[in-house]
Amino acid sequence: MLENKDLLGIRYLSPFEILSIIHTAEKMKLKIDNKKLRENILENYNIVTLFYENSTRTKMSFSMAGKYLGAKVTDLGVATSSVNKGESLIDTGITLDQMGFDIMVIRHSMSGTANLLARNVKASVINAGDGINEHPTQALLDLFTIYEKKKNFQDLKVAIIGDIVHSRVARSNIFGLKKLGAEVVVCGPATLVDKNIECLGAKVTTDIKEALKDADVVMGLRIQLERQKGGLFPDLREYSQTFGVNKELMQYAKEDAILLHPGPVNRGVELTTELIDGEQSLIHEQVKNGVAVRMAIIDLLMERRKKDEVTDTKWPASGSLVQDGWEKRYIG
Ligand code: CP
Repeated sequence: MLENKDLLGIRYLSPFEILSIIHTAEKMKLKIDNKKLRENILENYNIVTLFYENSTRTKMSFSMAGKYLGAKVTDLGVATSSVNKGESLIDTGITLDQMGFDIMVIRHSMSGTANLLARNVKASVINAGDGINEHPTQALLDLFTIYEKKKNFQDLKVAIIGDIVHSRVARSNIFGLKKLGAEVVVCGPATLVDKNIECLGAKVTTDIKEALKDADVVMGLRIQLERQKGGLFPDLREYSQTFGVNKELMQYAKEDAILLHPGPVNRGVELTTELIDGEQSLIHEQVKNGVAVRMAIIDLLMERRKKDEVTDTKWPASGSLVQDGWEKRYIG
């Protein structure tokens, strides 16, 4: 069961909520492989996806997740919508709300957009990535993938390597991993790591060998050229020579360490092809787990809606005291 009407960030989730998503995803994953286990538990429910930024994995996995549960999934097609005639986000949301959508999945380049939409619609809003703020469903699928292999988060060392400063994936993962008791070390060029990230409980280093030493989980992150204003490192080749993870560097991690990457991967930049397609890599499994986790999130949010009649007063609005309470209790 989830506490709030929306899923806007890992910072708002309790450890109990995170673990219930993971355990529900375990059951949902069975339905992906076995058609006989699928039930149309969300028949008559409607989901709309609003992607103001490009996506393959997140958008398509929400689409498949909704379909596996029997819901109808519609993509707004932002590029051909009335957004191009100047319609605001709030007016777009209110318009879709009137049509009866139960869930709105939104990705946007501006941080805070999902919260803004959630405050203005009755539908449950799921953040599919907002600017450099959070990408909660990616972190939840990463946590699920780690859980499947390691069965525990306590005292795991997770090394996150790459463009930390622009990464909503890193922020959401740090929130989640710290809540569940893991140690997190982030590493990249000084221009792509932010010392302030230490406030979230992660260690910061520019020494990749120190970051990888005895790691249980190694997570590569994409270099997000689209969010960089330029001049943050000389060129991709130089970046990959120092911070690209290869087989030699991977040997600093534990022998049974697993390798993750949210995708899309710039092969040969963040990770070598040998590692991406190697035995320690769970990058392809992450994609399947993304569908299972999104099925779990949709199911748990709709379970909440089924139990309580939705009224403006009954549901805690995004950024409300309920959510701030979780943040204070678990992040400090
Ligand atoms: N990991 C991720 O968000 O991928 P997409 O941009 O393809 O959705």
